[in-house]
Amino acid sequence: MKTLKIGVLGAGEIAKGRHIPAFRHVEEVSVTAVMDINEERAQEAAEKFDIERVYTDLNDMLENIDALLITTPNKYHAPAAVQALNAGVHVLCEKPMALNTKECKEMIEAAEKSGKVLTIAYHYRFMKEARAAKRIIDSGEIGEPLVIRIKAMRRRKVPGWGVFTNRGLQGGGALIDYGCHLLDLALWLTGSSKPTEVSGTTYNNLSMQKDQVNEWGTINPATFEVEDHAAAFIRLENGATVILETSWAANIPEDEETISISGTKGGLDVFPLRLNKAENGVLLNTDITWMPEEEPFEILQAKHFAACCLGFAVPLANPYESLYVSSIMESVYESAKVGRSIQIKRE
Ligand SMILES: NC(=O)c1ccc[n+]([C@@H]2O[C@H](COP(=O)([O-])OP(=O)(O)OC[C@H]3O[C@@H](n4cnc5c(N)ncnc54)[C@H](O)[C@@H]3O)[C@@H](O)[C@H]2O)c1
Repeated sequence: MKTLKIGVLGAGEIAKGRHIPAFRHVEEVSVTAVMDINEERAQEAAEKFDIERVYTDLNDMLENIDALLITTPNKYHAPAAVQALNAGVHVLCEKPMALNTKECKEMIEAAEKSGKVLTIAYHYRFMKEARAAKRIIDSGEIGEPLVIRIKAMRRRKVPGWGVFTNRGLQGGGALIDYGCHLLDLALWLTGSSKPTEVSGTTYNNLSMQKDQVNEWGTINPATFEVEDHAAAFIRLENGATVILETSWAANIPEDEETISISGTKGGLDVFPLRLNKAENGVLLNTDITWMPEEEPFEILQAKHFAACCLGFAVPLANPYESLYVSSIMESVYESAKVGRSIQIKRE
């Protein structure tokens, strides 16, 4: 039975390519409303996916839905989420949570006041490797995490479409767009400890060059306002260290997407999933040869969101943890700007 009416704000690539099709697999959900600043795009999405109504005013749409999917550029995440939560509407917001921590806190405050669901689409948490890694780590197999190495590296793949290189609309580049996923996953896997200090650097040298080789379209240096490469050293409250590198355009042999965790009793790599241990006088690495068949991450994410809205689950990606991710990214940008490390205040 369809009990949950969902509205979509931002009928772009990720809404049409991932979320709306995923919601079609959720029995309790019906996507009934869509709105986009570009009304034609909303109309097209409505026709393609058989969505009942196109709105031009967010308040009107909020009056007629139970939950809002926010898939606009990052600048509009926080204002739309706050407006929706204040109207008593649940929110699934695309990543990153917002442009900065101030906005994240406003979103959390609105969620706390309204009692409605607020969750961020950090979908890597729903991948089967990630879920298996979480089970292994939570079982105590690798002990306490010590050093967490994250690589979210693309060789020459700067998005040449959309608004990804517009600082005002997105708040940053490779880190806030791509690195945030692996950062979120690594923090969640290792127990969501608070960040306390961040030292970061950012670069845009490659994208500012003329005639770049880029696999994902053409980049215009004149309108390229963000970083294409970032590196950071992050201290966590539990004593662990995160070493992060992320890029859209690195000079490396091939793309690399990994999280590697060294713990007190063993180590674990994600993508591919592998356990590294020293036991009975030998060093051994365990490759995972089978994992339970699970649905695609986007369908799991959509089903989980519906379950949260209906009161059967609590969000896997809770907004307090998403705030940590945003506070690290904000500190990387600040650290890169001022050329020294940034202390993150305890609250
Ligand atoms: N989870 C992921 O892996 C993933 C991948 C890509 C994008 N995203 C995120 O999804 C969001 C959208 O990305 P996209 O690739 O779909 O971009 P897009 O440019 O294809 O779509 C964005 C849409 O929002 C509309 N829009 C802009 N301002 C608006 C406003 N104020 N109100 C309503 N609509 C507005 C645009 O007209 C456009 O149709 C971004 O936050 C991005 O970071 C996430």
